[in-house]
Parts: sequence; C-alpha cells; structure tokens
Amino acid sequence: MSLEMLDVILSVTGGFVLLVMMSLIRRKKVTNYHLPPGPKRNLVFGNLMDLIYSSMITGEPSLLKFAKWSFQYGPICYLRFFRQRVVVISDARVAQQLCAAQSDKFSTRPPGLFLSRVLKGKGIVFNDGPSWKEHRNFITHEFRKFGFGNQSIEHKIQYVVDEYLRQIAKTNGGVHDPHTNIATAIYNVIWTTISGERFSWDDPFLHKIIANLETNLQAVELTGPHNYVTLLSIWHLIWHNAFRLLCIVMKRMFYFKQLICKYKKHRKETATSDVDESMMYDYLVKMQGSKLNGQLTHFSESQLLWLVSDLFIAGGETTITSFRWVLLCLAKFPEVQQRLRHEIMENFGRDSSPSYSQRTQLPYLEAFIHETLRFSCSVPGMWRNTTQDAKYENYDIPKKTWVLLHFWAMSNNTALWHDVREFKPERFLNNDGTFCKNENFLAFSAGKRQCPGESLARTELFLFTIGVLQKFRVTLPAGQDIDVHAGQFGVTYTPPHHHLQFIPIGV
Ligand code: HEM
Repeated sequence: MSLEMLDVILSVTGGFVLLVMMSLIRRKKVTNYHLPPGPKRNLVFGNLMDLIYSSMITGEPSLLKFAKWSFQYGPICYLRFFRQRVVVISDARVAQQLCAAQSDKFSTRPPGLFLSRVLKGKGIVFNDGPSWKEHRNFITHEFRKFGFGNQSIEHKIQYVVDEYLRQIAKTNGGVHDPHTNIATAIYNVIWTTISGERFSWDDPFLHKIIANLETNLQAVELTGPHNYVTLLSIWHLIWHNAFRLLCIVMKRMFYFKQLICKYKKHRKETATSDVDESMMYDYLVKMQGSKLNGQLTHFSESQLLWLVSDLFIAGGETTITSFRWVLLCLAKFPEVQQRLRHEIMENFGRDSSPSYSQRTQLPYLEAFIHETLRFSCSVPGMWRNTTQDAKYENYDIPKKTWVLLHFWAMSNNTALWHDVREFKPERFLNNDGTFCKNENFLAFSAGKRQCPGESLARTELFLFTIGVLQKFRVTLPAGQDIDVHAGQFGVTYTPPHHHLQFIPIGV
C-alpha cells in the first residue's frame, strides 16, 4: 500500500471518528434535557435515514411519515436529523400552549430551512427579525382595516363572487375542471384587497400570473429530507432544475413589478378614493413618509414586491385549495349539500347575499366550512423554531429546535376526533343546532405567526359557498367516483384531480 493511500485512509477514518465523537459529546448535552418521546435514533444520523428511506425509496410523503411518528409517540414527538433537533406537534391544544402561551420562544422560522435560506430578509412568510415584524404589523393593521366586518371589502368580494357565478353559468351544466375559474376568482380577490383594483376575467396577464404561480409548488417541499442537510438541498435544487426555478421566480417578480407600476400609473391618472382605499396605497404613503422624515424602516420598493408576492402565494393557493375541497365535498355528499341549501333558502332566499356578520343565522353552513377545513386541511404543516429553551409539561424543548406544527395530523388524530375520516359537519354543532367551536381545530395556526388572512379567507369561503348553493346543484359527473381521502401532500394538501358539473337551479 502506498504512503498516499495510507494517508487518505487515515484521514477518512480520523474524520469519521471525529464526527462520531462530536455527535457523542452533543448527545451527552442532549441527555441533560428531558426530551419528549420519539422513535429510536441512530447515533450519527438520528432519524434522518428513516425519513430519506421513506420519502425517496418508498415515495411516502414526508408529512405522512411525520404523522405516523407522532401518532405512535404522542402529541409532542422528538426526532433528530443528523444534528438538528425536531419536535412534531399533532395536538392543537399543545400547539396553542406553545405558540400562543409562549409566543416569544416560538415565533421564528428555522433559519436553516431550505426556503428560509432562499428568502432570507424577504417578505413575510419565511422572513424573520425587524423587517418581518414591521411588515407583519403593517398587514395585521391593514387586514383589520379592510378585513373582517368591513362592508367595503365584502362588497368587493361579492362583486367577484357574482362574476364567478356568471362564468359557471356559461358552462351550461357541462363537465369541466373547476380549478381555473376558482383560481381566477381568488387571485382577483387578493388583488382587489391589495390594490382596490380588479382584473377582467379573461385578462391574459392574470392568466400568465396564475400559470406562473402554479408551476413550482411541488418543488418547494417544506418537510422533505433536503431541509436538514445542505448537500441534499443542493441535490434537490439540481433535481428540480435550479435554472428553471430561478427563471420562474424572476418571471413572477417581473409580473408583480409590472402590476405595481400599473397601479401607480392608474393612481396618478385617476386619484379616485376607491383606488386610494387600499393596502398598496397605505404602503406607498408609509414608504414616502419614512423617506421624508429620514426614518430607518424596512418599507421599500423591493420589500413591497416581496410582500405582494407573499400575499398572492400565501393567500392564493391556500384559499383556492380550500374552496376546491368545499366544492368537492358538496358534490361528494349530496345530502349535506341539500341541507345547506335548505338552510340558506329558508333564511335568505335565492337572490339576497348575506353578509359575513349574519353567519350566526347559518350554523350548518359554518359547521360545514369548519368540517371542510378540518377534513381537507389545506395547509398541512408549518415550521417554527425555538429561540430559547422552552418547556411543555415536564418535557424540555431546547433552544434552536425545529417545531413542525403538523395541522394535518392534528385534524386526523384518532385520539382527538371520533370517526376521523368521516365527513361530519355535525361535529361542529351543539345539541340545539347552534355552531360550536372545537379546541382540536387549528387550521389557521396560533400565536404571533398565526395566519393574518384568516378573516379574509373565512369571508371568501362563506360568500362563495352561499353564491354557488343559491344558484347551482354541484355534482360529480356520472360514473366518476372520487376517493376524498386521496389528497396530495405538498405545500398545500390538494384534492385528487376531479371534474364537476354545476346544474342551474330553477328560478
Ligand atoms: C383557507 C385559507 C387559508 C389557510 C388555511 C391559511 C393557513 C395559514 C397557516 C396555517 C399559516 C402558518 C402560520 C404559522 O406559521 O404557524 C399561514 C400563514 C400566513 N398566511 Fe394564511 N391561510 C389562508 C389564507 C390566507 C390569506 C387569504 C392570506 C392573505 C391574503 C394569508 C396570508 C398569510 C401570511 C402572510 C402568512 C405568514 C404569516 C407569518 O409568517 O407571519 N393566508 N396561513
């Protein structure tokens, strides 16, 4: 054996021994904590090889693997991926106690998460620190101003609902994929919330944006093994054609830039109060104000671009997916659909549009929307990171642990829900038929990073569902039976591919 060869063997062995020793030293530190229960871990890789095996070899979605672990080891389940500590939460009450009651410790995103690395310092969803805080405060304030209980935003949504119903009427009861009309409607609501303006239904520019937004969502897996190891992240990027992904994102930013420019031009030309009453207007005023006063803020042209992009993505795909599930559940469970229509017709008839504040008169509809959100769980999971050591009962959750809020597992936990795979709006009703909340339900998360668009999303689902039920009977085409348990895990949990028919209800 040559000297060089011996040198290589010794270096490799030395490196391996060093790695094992580092892992053992770290393990010693870990054992000082009283960690939550979890599956057996390999000394060096922890549970990473199991995750890699199940997601890459057997093709099982990572979120399903996480759910299986948490169903086996309890509502707070401890894992380790190489050196990264991970805790999976599959009980909404535990999530509330950590994210709301100890919100200061649980309000950041994991800095090493693939998307946090890519989007560091940009927008809201994967951003942290002062720029996240400033923008989060801004949109929370704006959603309060234009959101829940605000008649003007409801009128704007209703306008889109009416247009959506006209488009459905054009299908003449024919079989079609309902996706494009839903996407056009929901992105229109987002754009009208941001800018006060609207796209026309067949605006080619809007359809370019929709096509772009739908292109790369599968590539952005949030829970796959690539999130834990830099080398795997690089492999993931190459696998999904990094250059193509970059082109998609650059194109998207170019489209949003054009939208913002169009808005500014329109505002200059018209200066109507309708256009001024918008989030975009308030942002530009804030940006101008801080420039004039020489204040150091994070409000800038480039942040505005990322904010618009985040609102389109976080508010679009989630609501589109939820409403796709609403329509599919109406078609799949005709007796539920019939009861809903009866409730709406009795209270409001065929032509009047109730406002969201009148939902107490429609308890079965409210229960139906909650059950659809539980059953479908359109945002199946989201990450947090601990910034300090934390505790849950007698368990420790050390600083810098990644916390997976597993919303799908929360909604599908047999320990928390009876007949978990059955679609039963009644579980959200009291004995006297009034709506009742369920503390195991947490579709919009909790704490400082709770979904800021919750009231907008709820209002949209309410108005769109009523509109459809007043005018159409939703059915699956004859002979098409869809397995509603065969959704697809990704950033959202999408329904299986399906077609629908909207049969007009006689006047
Ligand atoms: C049915 C529809 C929706 C669902 C189920 C949903 C659910 C969620 C969930 C679970 C989170 C993660 C919170 C966490 O980190 O724990 C989130 C975050 C977020 N959502 Fe929603 N959402 C919906 C609609 C919307 C809408 C309509 C908007 C705005 C137009 C929106 C904007 C956001 C933003 C900006 C964040 C990031 C918040 C932050 O990181 O501080 N969402 N949403």
